[in-house]
Amino acid sequence: MGLNEGVLVAAVALLFAAAMLPEAAAAVRYTVGGNKGWTQGVNYTIWAQDKKFYHDDWLFFVYDRNQMNVLEVNKTDFEGCSTDHPLRNWTTGAGRDVVPLSVTKTFYFVSGKGYCYGA
Ligand SMILES: *[C@@H]1O[C@H](CO)[C@@H](O)[C@H](O)[C@H]1NC(C)=O
Ligand SMILES: *[C@@H]1O[C@H](CO)[C@@H](O)[C@H](O)[C@H]1NC(C)=O
Ligand SMILES: *[C@@H]1O[C@H](CO)[C@@H](O)[C@H](O)[C@H]1NC(C)=O
Repeated sequence: MGLNEGVLVAAVALLFAAAMLPEAAAAVRYTVGGNKGWTQGVNYTIWAQDKKFYHDDWLFFVYDRNQMNVLEVNKTDFEGCSTDHPLRNWTTGAGRDVVPLSVTKTFYFVSGKGYCYGA
């Protein structure tokens, strides 16, 4: 598949709930996509569905820096596959980016390189 379409390779919506336990467990670092990492062809809905994300957890994106980047977008842009106005660009260019889940909300991440799939 062409990677120069100017649309998205992968998209993941990660919902994490506010920690409800007062004695919140130690922060967990999740490698997005598990051993597949952040790449195309992975269904991140399935990856995320059995996980609970809490405040102060971390997301660890491991990817091919030539093919992927890590952009946080809002819901509208996630659903519309747009990276025209990312909320935040988490890309460092190293192929390994860590995102702290420091606020309670739904995070939407997309890669701005490649093609989009409907999520
Ligand atoms: C990912 O998996 C979910 C749950 O099985 C499914 O509803 C969704 O359609 C899948 N998405 C893609 C792009 O295959
Ligand atoms: C997302 O951002 C776009 C562009 O800034 C805006 O038009 C849209 O209303 C926003 N959507 C939400 C859910 O905030
Ligand atoms: C995100 O930041 C990286 C590293 O600074 C930069 O190379 C890339 O062009 C940026 N992407 C967007 C869409 O802003």
